[in-house]
Amino acid sequence: MMAFEIGDQIGLASLRAVDRPDPAPAPGEAIVRVRAACLNHRDLKVLAGTYGPRRPPTRVPGSDGIGEVVALGAGVTAPQPGTRAICAHFCNWLDGAFSPAAFAHDLGITRDGWLAQHIAVPAAALVTVPDAVSDAQAVALPAAGLTAWNALVEVARIKAGDVVLLLGTGGVSILALKIARMHGARVAITSSSDAKLEQARNMGADIAINYRAEPDWAAAMLRATGGAGADIVVETGGLATLTHSISACAPNARIVLIGALGDASAAALPNFSSIVGKNLTLRGITAGNRRMLQDLVRAVAANDMPASIHRCFSFADTAAAYAFLQAGNHLGKVMIEMPA
Ligand SMILES: NC(=O)c1ccc[n+]([C@@H]2O[C@H](COP(=O)([O-])OP(=O)(O)OC[C@H]3O[C@@H](n4cnc5c(N)ncnc54)[C@H](OP(=O)(O)O)[C@@H]3O)[C@@H](O)[C@H]2O)c1
Repeated sequence: MMAFEIGDQIGLASLRAVDRPDPAPAPGEAIVRVRAACLNHRDLKVLAGTYGPRRPPTRVPGSDGIGEVVALGAGVTAPQPGTRAICAHFCNWLDGAFSPAAFAHDLGITRDGWLAQHIAVPAAALVTVPDAVSDAQAVALPAAGLTAWNALVEVARIKAGDVVLLLGTGGVSILALKIARMHGARVAITSSSDAKLEQARNMGADIAINYRAEPDWAAAMLRATGGAGADIVVETGGLATLTHSISACAPNARIVLIGALGDASAAALPNFSSIVGKNLTLRGITAGNRRMLQDLVRAVAANDMPASIHRCFSFADTAAAYAFLQAGNHLGKVMIEMPA
């Protein structure tokens, strides 16, 4: 099959196209013919060798994807070949509380991922995608979508009328925007780009703040909410943004710690007294499990939640897709389509 491998992990140039044997299903596994994949921020870090330890150079990257089951290993009776399916990238975390054991089976990191014509996954991890949900709607759900769902629904217990603050217009934020709107929440979003803020408004954002033009965007957030602040923050910025996120919160808000996009070198320590004084909850998460992904797929189908794809590249143009993501001009997701 055609596949991409992460190579020496010295940057984008490490990505290499290879021909390699199709994977064979081990007992308990299914082989999925890949229809499409999506890139995530961590795919850039993996290629740069900065996402934990260096990985074997033959590792196939890609944590988000959709495909069709084509073969089953010994002992597997479902899902049937022909089933269109996705899979949480922690493919052994099926339900229940997080355990660090999840990291040992992480698609695109500690197991081969989606940037190949075929992928082997535990059959029990697969989630069937109903006909009503398109490839473009489903392909970004396993990583960015599931993280946003875990943050908003499982951890922050979102409810109609909540004010949700999203940082930047990357994949997690845009999926979170759609999920928050689905729950009847009000959405505030920040961006370095007025054009992206305009697009976010068209997607349903109620409050749009340019964090470059307004370095004190927490104050802008408080002004825009009449002093009330955010009930939930999907914190994708990390130490660089956390102090502002805390300032932008309403009493009893939930801040879900997810990413580290910003430059943390000049970051001050978080404003501890505000965490205590406002009774805030700060909680870190790592993606989510299969049961949460099932819930998300059901919600997407029931609400026809629109896809969050900014641009789609062909499989042959995967290197260009990585470069496009790294340039940061995207809003939402960068998708890669496999040859039929
Ligand atoms: N914990 C988890 O399970 C989990 C899961 C998924 C992702 N993550 C992490 O979450 C973060 C977001 O991932 P992603 O895939 O959504 O990334 P992405 O699509 O690459 O997002 C990039 C966007 O982030 C925004 N950004 C960058 N610096 C910012 C800053 N200082 N303040 C506000 N926004 C800023 C920019 O938006 P504008 O162009 O609009 O300014 C940029 O375009 C990454 O750190 C990723 O590793 C964690």
